[in-house]
Amino acid sequence: MTLVIDRLSKRFGQVLALDEVGFSVQPGEIFGFLGANGAGKTTTMRIILDILRADSGTVTWRGRPSTELSRRTFGYLPEERGLYPRMRILDQLVFFAALYGVAEASARRSALEWLERFRVTELAGRRADELSKGNQQKIQFIAAILHDPEVVLMDEPFTGLDPVNVALLRAAFVELAAAGRTLVFSTHQMEVVESLAGAIAIIDHGRLVTGGPTREVRRRAGRPVIRLAVEGDPELAWATSLPGVRSVRPRLGVTELTIAAGTDPQSVLHAALARGALVTCFEIADASLEDVFIELVGRPPDADGSIDRPAAVGSAA
Ligand SMILES: Nc1ncnc2c1ncn2[C@@H]1O[C@H](COP(=O)(O)OP(=O)(O)O)[C@@H](O)[C@H]1O
Ligand SMILES: [Mg+2]
Repeated sequence: MTLVIDRLSKRFGQVLALDEVGFSVQPGEIFGFLGANGAGKTTTMRIILDILRADSGTVTWRGRPSTELSRRTFGYLPEERGLYPRMRILDQLVFFAALYGVAEASARRSALEWLERFRVTELAGRRADELSKGNQQKIQFIAAILHDPEVVLMDEPFTGLDPVNVALLRAAFVELAAAGRTLVFSTHQMEVVESLAGAIAIIDHGRLVTGGPTREVRRRAGRPVIRLAVEGDPELAWATSLPGVRSVRPRLGVTELTIAAGTDPQSVLHAALARGALVTCFEIADASLEDVFIELVGRPPDADGSIDRPAAVGSAA
């Protein structure tokens, strides 16, 4: 049984924030929810959590409507700051867990375990407003999971984290998923998702663009990337004029070529061989998620998604 988001719609005045958005998440899965700023990610998460009501559509977990589930079912890492600025870190972790019925001793024990894992035990007695953005993010993650929720919803958890902390958080995701927890996180950073999320949904302007297992989405939606190396010819200048070849650029010791939809990748290999070249590398790789996003949405995920939405621009001013 799965987390099923079924045809959610939500309007804020002039802005149709969600337009029949639907996707499903398998238990034990790490699910990436992708979209540019203003796409509707936070709104969707708030509706799943029943913080916000949809105008229409439903959310069910294991066959039961989210509105009828125990609050303990979900953990939430909100996009905006959710910590009390002046309360000491360990105290607030214990406090948040108590809201979900976790006994103090046990909350304290697992909070300290997580602080240790994240290499921040020294933060236990500090106030939240003394913490860096990255450390606050780690504390918010701990706050989201201390009551051991079945489903953890995280809104942009990687934003503002340095690579070391990204790695720590990723490892925590993998461990929780292996233990059967279901993790949903939103992001506009495609490279984090590529190797972490087993399945994804991409939304744009409140509409589902595509979704499914990450590898399938990359195969289906993107054009493959060809990696080619020819002895004594690092530039492969001749390849730019091959039919169907869109770009040719050297990268990491090989040359990467992108091709138009419908072009057979093998035709590039045949062309190289026909020139009598010694091919030392030929590989057909799936398109990156960044390329998939640009292909389907028409702009990169970090471009401002609200530029062609007058109402959204107005509300942001
Ligand atoms: N409370 C609100 N009132 C008015 N408009 C809102 C509100 N919340 C979100 N919106 C609008 O709905 C759209 C989707 O927002 P949001 O779900 O926050 O997107 P994302 O999290 O993907 O950046 C945006 O155009 C945003 O301006
Ligand atoms: Mg958001």
